Amino acid sequence: MYICNGVIPTLVGSRVKLCAMTTEHASALYQIWSHPEVTRWLGVPALSSIEETEQLIAFLSQMAQEEDSLRWSIVGPGGEVIGSCGYNYWQLQGAYRGEIGCDLAPALWGLGYMKEALGLVLNFGFNRMGLNRIEALCHPDNNRAERLVQTLGFQKEGILRQYRQTPSGFQDVTLHALLRGEWQ
Ligand SMILES: CC(C)(COP(=O)(O)OP(=O)(O)OC[C@H]1O[C@@H](n2cnc3c(N)ncnc32)[C@H](O)[C@@H]1OP(=O)(O)O)[C@@H](O)C(=O)NCCC(=O)NCCS
Repeated sequence: MYICNGVIPTLVGSRVKLCAMTTEHASALYQIWSHPEVTRWLGVPALSSIEETEQLIAFLSQMAQEEDSLRWSIVGPGGEVIGSCGYNYWQLQGAYRGEIGCDLAPALWGLGYMKEALGLVLNFGFNRMGLNRIEALCHPDNNRAERLVQTLGFQKEGILRQYRQTPSGFQDVTLHALLRGEWQ
């Protein structure tokens, strides 16, 4: 639908650029996906090697090609990969709904890069993918993530109890959502 000749579109903002994820990004993404300050909020085990990171990138790229999910690498102002973001899941028929996910190198938190990156993701979701509702699921103590989605206009809708299985057991998440009619 949004892929032309197998090419994932690049989205360009003023400071960040969202690019198709490739194994060339493995080293930078490994630093982020193995960082305990990042993985604790995602409820996933930290990655333990570059090889494992390459396998995950290959899996995510395959899912993007099949239009089951869509995750970009975030390229910062210096041309380096500083994080990733996109849709963990989305569907049109019967719902027109997607769920965003994101992670940023902790050294760059508090500079507004993710707000800009997610702005591009939301624009693409509403205007190119045709979504009507975009959700974000956050760990209930993840204040940074909650602040981030609220500044983008998401409304908190409630708590989904024991929604995720994580290495430390079943975990609640807070559900936030933004509707097409509420976006800009
Ligand atoms: C969630 C996460 C991406 C948020 O990162 P962040 O740095 O807080 O978010 P942003 O990049 O949008 O930065 C926003 C902050 O930059 C500040 N800022 C500075 N310059 C800015 C600018 N030019 N534009 C916008 N904001 C700017 C904002 O005031 C805000 O500050 P605050 O933290 O004091 O409120 C990050 O904490 C992360 O990777 N966490 C681990 C993974 C995770 O939790 N993912 C989300 C799952 S739901």
